[in-house]
Amino acid sequence: MVNTLDAAFISKGPWKSNLFQGKVVFVTGGGGTICRVQTEALVLLGAKAAIIGRSESNTITVAEEISKLAEPGAVLPIPKIDVRDYKQLEQAVAQTVKTFGRIDYVIAGAAGNFIADVAHLSPNAFKSVVDIDLLGSFNTVKACLPELLKSKGSVLFVSATLHYYGVPFQAHVGAAKAGVDALSNALAVELGPLGIRCNCIAPGPIENTEGMRRLAPGDFKTRAAEAVPLQRLGTTKDIADVTVFLFSPAASFVNGTITAVDGGAWHVGATF
Ligand code: HXC
Repeated sequence: MVNTLDAAFISKGPWKSNLFQGKVVFVTGGGGTICRVQTEALVLLGAKAAIIGRSESNTITVAEEISKLAEPGAVLPIPKIDVRDYKQLEQAVAQTVKTFGRIDYVIAGAAGNFIADVAHLSPNAFKSVVDIDLLGSFNTVKACLPELLKSKGSVLFVSATLHYYGVPFQAHVGAAKAGVDALSNALAVELGPLGIRCNCIAPGPIENTEGMRRLAPGDFKTRAAEAVPLQRLGTTKDIADVTVFLFSPAASFVNGTITAVDGGAWHVGATF
C-alpha cells in the first residue's frame, strides 16, 4: 500500500504558533546574533528559554529584549557562566530546571572568534577558541544530558563552513568547528537510540551578525552578492527557519546532519 498524506500532515508540521508550547530550550551564546534569533524563533512559537552567557549585562539585556516576544517569565538570563567550566554549566542547568522544570532543547552556540594569522596566533589564543567552541559544546550537552534523557530532547550545535576548505587567518576557528561537527555526528549515533536527536547548523555569511562584523568588515554586502551562488547575504530569518524545522516534529527522522545555511557559498570557496 502506498503511504499517502492526509490532513494530519498539516497539524504535525512546523510553523504553528504553539509549536513549542511546554518546551524549554537551554541556549549558550544566546547573547550573540545567531543564537539570539534562534531563541527568538522558539520563544515566538511558545517555548521558554534559559539564556546562558559570560557577560552579565549583555545576557540580561538580551533576555529582557527576547522576553518582550512572550508571556512574562518565559526567558531566564543566567549570566556569568563560562562554557569552559563544566561546574558552572551544571549550576546553570540546575537553575533552569528549578525555574522551568525541564530541558527539551539545547542550542550549543557559544563561540569565540578573531582574525589572526598563525604567526600572531599564540598557543593560548588557539586553545581559547577550541576550548570555547568545542569543549564548551561538549560541556553544554553533557551538563544537559540527564534532562535530555528524561525529555527525549534534541540538540542543535552551531558550526560553520570555513573548515570545509582552507580559510586563512581562521585556523583556530576552523579546527574548533571541525571538532564540533565530529562531536555532533558521534553524539547523534550514540544518543539516537536513547531518543535524543543531534544536528548541526552551519551558518555562512549572515548579515548583521557579530561574526560578520568581525570577519568581513567593510562593504562585504556587495562582495557577497557577487560571490554567493544565491547572490545575497543570509538573513537571521534564514537561520530561524532552519532552527525551527530541526527542532520540530517535521524533523523527527533527521539526526546527525549538518545543514549549511550559506546560499551555496562554500561550494565555490567564497570568502569575504
Ligand atoms: C590574536 C588574540 C586576539 C586577537 C584574543 N587573543 N584576541 N590573539 N588576535 N584579535 C588571544 C589573547 O592574546 C590570549 O592569548 C588568548 O587569545 C585568550 O584571550 P583572552 O581575552 O585572555 O581570553 P578570553 O576572555 O577567553 O577571550 C577569548 C576570545 C573571546 C576568543 C577572544 O573573548 C571572543 O572571541 N569573544 C568574541 C565572541 C564572539 O564574537 N563570538 C561570535 C563568534 S562568530 P595570550 O597568548 O596572549 O594569552 C563565529 C562565527 C565563525 O564564531 C564562523 C564565521 C563564518
